[in-house]
Amino acid sequence: MERTAEMYQDLDRVIVTREEITRKVRKLGEQITKDYKGKEPVMVCILKGAAIFFSDLIREIALPLSTDFMAISSYGSATKTSGVVRILKDLDNDILGKDVIIVEDIVDTGITLNYLQKILIQRGASSLKIAALLDKTARRKVPDLKVDYVCFDIPDAFVVGYGLDYNQKYRNLPDIGILSPRIYGE
Ligand code: IMP
Ligand code: MG
Repeated sequence: MERTAEMYQDLDRVIVTREEITRKVRKLGEQITKDYKGKEPVMVCILKGAAIFFSDLIREIALPLSTDFMAISSYGSATKTSGVVRILKDLDNDILGKDVIIVEDIVDTGITLNYLQKILIQRGASSLKIAALLDKTARRKVPDLKVDYVCFDIPDAFVVGYGLDYNQKYRNLPDIGILSPRIYGE
């Protein structure tokens, strides 16, 4: 069997197709281009989950932006958040006085982004917005977290694909799907 088909067999179903992603990412890029007219935002990719979304999104933004990367961990390899957030790789550049946009794969409890937002504001960013590919609002534990841009609201299920993983797998699926619970043993 083709190896990609093998990965798709681990899904219960696809919930967002590659065509829908392309359309939404393009629209978001246009929106950010409008909202940041005359500015040069710093786009911050939260590794590794947002990497694919990030690379598509920045090419849809018609502004002289700059990029930086950060890796944080709140999950380990499980499918439920631990509530503990650690910086594994920090930004390379100073963000003092900059217009920063955090690009994240998914907002779940909101604990990770809430923490990140606090530290980036402390460092003196002049503005800070959040762009998330996916939002699982049903699971939010930080109710006042403001997610400025969201591509898709999704149900409370563990999803993989288009950058999102389970134990580092499935990131290369072009679509987003619900991982079958038999894979993570629930
Ligand atoms: P939060 O702190 O609970 O909002 O967790 C957000 C992080 O958990 C995301 O950046 C993802 O890395 C991970 N995560 C949450 N839900 C999923 C999912 O359904 N699939 C893959 N990763 C997820
Ligand atoms: Mg992540």
